[in-house]
Amino acid sequence: MRIITYTIYSLHKMMKLIIYKSLLGSSRIYAQWLSKAIKADVYPMDVVTDELIEKAACIIIIAGTYFLNSPIISFTKSKWRVLREKRVYLINIAGFSIESVTRKIVYNRLPVEIKERVNYYDLQGKIGPVRAGGVKIENIDKLIADINQ
Ligand SMILES: Cc1cc2nc3c(=O)[nH]c(=O)nc-3n(C[C@H](O)[C@H](O)[C@H](O)COP(=O)(O)O)c2cc1C
Repeated sequence: MRIITYTIYSLHKMMKLIIYKSLLGSSRIYAQWLSKAIKADVYPMDVVTDELIEKAACIIIIAGTYFLNSPIISFTKSKWRVLREKRVYLINIAGFSIESVTRKIVYNRLPVEIKERVNYYDLQGKIGPVRAGGVKIENIDKLIADINQ
């Protein structure tokens, strides 16, 4: 029974993969919180391989906004061949407020085909070192609930 439970747990864990890119630390912290909450493996964007992506059923891609753009856009476009059949969550971490138009600008950089297939979220980041401020664990409550649905 213990072996079966462990096997199911491992398969469950294998199926989710978090990929992040973070210059100032917010995206890395969200990735770590999320990995504990949904039991997913975490890889920096520069290190993850196509083989790892292919093995996962659910991929969460997290990165900061830099000059009205985000690495989630170029990464998703470049890996779309391996991502298109998966459940994909794109998480844009921005320093400006949640209502800021820059968030829409980032989203609108995605091709229509990708927009139609992915789940897209904006989360509050922070300009400067991550201490107190906008980066809060409760910001990922809805995301966790949606992924676990
Ligand atoms: C060079 C640079 C450019 C930025 N440009 C934007 C921007 O255009 N819009 C925005 O909302 N935040 C912008 N920010 C703020 C970051 O999105 C914010 O600090 C976020 O938390 C970065 O994610 P990270 O901490 O994972 O690197 C910028 C930050 C830096 C360092």
